[in-house]
Amino acid sequence: MKYYEGRFSGKRAVVTGASAGIGKAAALRLAKEGARVGLISWAKEELEGVAHQITTEGGVAIPLFADVSNEDQISKAIDTAAKAWGGLDIVVSNAGIELPFEDNTTDAVPFSVWQKIVNVNLTGQFLSCKYGLRHLLAAGGGAVVMVASPCGEKGFCFKEHAYTASKGGVMSLMKVMALDYIAHNIRVNAVIPGMIDTPMNAHVMSDPELLKMWTSTIPIKRAGTADETAAVILFLLSDEAAYVVGSAWAVDGGQLAG
Ligand SMILES: NC(=O)c1ccc[n+]([C@@H]2O[C@H](COP(=O)([O-])OP(=O)(O)OC[C@H]3O[C@@H](n4cnc5c(N)ncnc54)[C@H](O)[C@@H]3O)[C@@H](O)[C@H]2O)c1
Repeated sequence: MKYYEGRFSGKRAVVTGASAGIGKAAALRLAKEGARVGLISWAKEELEGVAHQITTEGGVAIPLFADVSNEDQISKAIDTAAKAWGGLDIVVSNAGIELPFEDNTTDAVPFSVWQKIVNVNLTGQFLSCKYGLRHLLAAGGGAVVMVASPCGEKGFCFKEHAYTASKGGVMSLMKVMALDYIAHNIRVNAVIPGMIDTPMNAHVMSDPELLKMWTSTIPIKRAGTADETAAVILFLLSDEAAYVVGSAWAVDGGQLAG
């Protein structure tokens, strides 16, 4: 991959969950298109690998270790990126977890599992936006993309009630933030990835029967890639999407159209 001047030259970004999957793909694309990127994750080794990949190929990135659900850690990580570059213009709030073998129906899910999932997926996105937005406000504008899920739109993630609720919360937060911050020249939007081939879905991708069962329910009949999702994230962050505010773009092979 070659790094060059592009749509994001001069922009300063933070991406949470940048160590793998969709966050990593978005961070690589942002760096490739000229942004300086603060890579945030709790997965130290993978994160250093992504930072190394970007910097050895001529991009600008710093690895910032933080659990997005820990207020002290995430605020410090975001502030460190802002301090390094004199501000921030972009927040990709992406980090999330899915615990399909621990999550369950409302009557059965252990409270500790509910808390773990909601803390990362909803509180983590709230905290990432809270501390990121302060820098966007100071910069006089910017763009935020949150990563939601079809489960937050429809009730088809059976027996994953905590994950479903956490992603529904992300959608609601995205909409109210979009309306409150557009007056400050900050556009807030979301992507809704469908079934994407990332480490989060390794249990499905590595099981041919399960994969066949899942893809048969997707109109395009295949899983998507992290890079296909990142392409839409970058569009929403770019000036090309100047009139896109408070919307959620599905990257799901048609899943939500049905
Ligand atoms: N993969 C899919 O099919 C799919 C579908 C719908 C929504 N999503 C959402 O997309 C986002 C990214 O998913 P993915 O598939 O790339 O996941 P992934 O597990 O492949 O990668 C997520 C990365 O975020 C990091 N992370 C997780 N929790 C963190 C925390 N508390 N603090 C810091 N870092 C943390 C992980 O270490 C990992 O490197 C998530 O919010 C997920 O819910 C994914």
